[in-house]
Amino acid sequence: MKIIRAKDYNDMSRKAANIISAQVILKPDSVLGLATGSSPIGIYEQLIKWYNKGDVDFGECTTFNLDEYRGLTAYHDQSYHYFMHKNFFDAINVPESRINLPDGAQMDAERECERYDAAIQAAGGIDLQLLGMGLNGHIGFNEPDDYFSKGTHCVDLTESTIEANKRFFESADDVPRQAYTMGVQTIMLARRIVIVVSGENKADIVRQAFFGPVTPRVPASILQLHTDVSVVADEAALSKSMDLL
Ligand code: F6R
Repeated sequence: MKIIRAKDYNDMSRKAANIISAQVILKPDSVLGLATGSSPIGIYEQLIKWYNKGDVDFGECTTFNLDEYRGLTAYHDQSYHYFMHKNFFDAINVPESRINLPDGAQMDAERECERYDAAIQAAGGIDLQLLGMGLNGHIGFNEPDDYFSKGTHCVDLTESTIEANKRFFESADDVPRQAYTMGVQTIMLARRIVIVVSGENKADIVRQAFFGPVTPRVPASILQLHTDVSVVADEAALSKSMDLL
């Protein structure tokens, strides 16, 4: 596990964007696993700038997002589908036919999860998976549990996640209660993982996840067992791990 220290959010975003951009330059038909949330927005902004300058081209890439709310259509302004188009896809040249997210409008969970895993497999697996991390160590919507999840599945969101996400909805009541998410095993099967973490409020969980025991109680801790993980974290996020670096 490589820990890449960044000064602040912008520096973190540029460093992570550099890794993704190098991936796409080295393998133009890369399969990219992508994330939503506040952590990757700066990365997407940076990649869009480089795309506009002609420095990176997504024309042959395929993308798979980590997760989607169950019950929201692609057109809902809080769906992850909408988020990704607004913050990234609409500004670059990845073909619409190669953009993949779980279909939140598909209420048959088993069918949708099987379809998604089969699509990842058919694409040859994920070359690079970008992740953020929740305050409780969740990755995707894989929340603390007694075991690590496997493939794509449907989860009930925890109160803390509903609470953290309600800022994007009119009220906590409007936050969907379930989501489709890649499983921990799906994530671990990615050939390369980049996880970005910023801010002092993540300092405790950074110490637990990357320097503590591997446990499903802190889902991101499993990344310690992956052979190609880069943690790109800013000073604030690393502020409680300095003695371990
Ligand atoms: C997003 C996702 C989540 C977020 C996590 C951190 O697709 O799967 O696991 O990465 O909740 O969110 P932010 O970046 O908003 O702190």
